[in-house]
Amino acid sequence: MSSYPRTIGILHPGEMGGPVGAAARLAGGRGLWASEGRSAATRQRAEQAGLEDAGSLQRLVAEAQVLISVCPPHAAQSLAEAVAALGFTGLYVDANAISPAHTAEIAATLHRAGTGFVDGGIVGPPVRRAGTTRLYLSGARAAEAAACFEGSPLATMVMTGDIGAASALKMAYAAYTKGGTALQAAILALAQGHGVEADLRQEWEISQPGLADQARASLERAAPKAWRFVPEMEEIAATFEAMGLPGGFHHAAADIYRRLEGHAEDPDPQAAALILELLDDPSKPRGVPLRG
Ligand SMILES: NC(=O)c1ccc[n+]([C@@H]2O[C@H](COP(=O)([O-])OP(=O)(O)OC[C@H]3O[C@@H](n4cnc5c(N)ncnc54)[C@H](OP(=O)(O)O)[C@@H]3O)[C@@H](O)[C@H]2O)c1
Repeated sequence: MSSYPRTIGILHPGEMGGPVGAAARLAGGRGLWASEGRSAATRQRAEQAGLEDAGSLQRLVAEAQVLISVCPPHAAQSLAEAVAALGFTGLYVDANAISPAHTAEIAATLHRAGTGFVDGGIVGPPVRRAGTTRLYLSGARAAEAAACFEGSPLATMVMTGDIGAASALKMAYAAYTKGGTALQAAILALAQGHGVEADLRQEWEISQPGLADQARASLERAAPKAWRFVPEMEEIAATFEAMGLPGGFHHAAADIYRRLEGHAEDPDPQAAALILELLDDPSKPRGVPLRG
């Protein structure tokens, strides 16, 4: 890849994509985005990140040397197909929370169009300062993608594995963090449903100090993003199943997040109400008597 200046397109400047674009600029690159079809919130984030508007995806593909896909997991494939259809010949980094198999499909789509591909996975919050967020990269051209962020607050971790490794790492990581939050939320709802929430809290204070508050705080943080966590949990379940392991933990986690999808615009979700909402699923059987 040629040295600076390097033009990097962000697809799209979401909560994470915006700061990733800002990091690329801090590393000396020129940051682009495409406003066509995007919301006012995305525009605001793009402007905050100092990205230039290429207008359309077509224009973005024509100008960028590197494209970074940072979008909801369910949109990753169609976005890659749109880029492939436009004949992008630069380097495409898919940094989404998707399974290694899904990543391989995207890589194949782009490969057929003559596009270079690097697998990516982001761990940590939207990057604003050094030390919080890591972009894992794998594949033969991973180091080229890492160079786009050299000296920026976004740390890059070039893995020895091939395409699929960065996605697998992200799946394994989020399986525990987001999967764990869903499990804790389900437990809080279970205890609430049986009227033993205060007893569980008391027991946790003895045997698992801090867990009760942490579980409620994690639930409140997750609720506005639940709509995006649903497909991510399904991607994780598929990753387990492809390895011959049970995917049921994360299908259930997807179900939990599905019940919270309505909070996308909620600025201040409260754990108490969210727990009741988890219990309020009309499709679930009620009043099943305990046996024994
Ligand atoms: N946020 C985090 O803390 C975090 C942490 C680690 C990894 N990640 C990863 O980063 C990725 C994006 O997350 P995010 O938090 O940035 O999401 P986000 O804030 O919801 O942003 C998603 C961006 O993609 C666009 N988009 C939405 N639907 C789309 C579609 N169907 N096709 C194409 N673009 C679409 C949105 O544009 P419009 O809204 O304008 O349509 C928005 O600009 C995910 O794969 C996630 O796993 C995020």
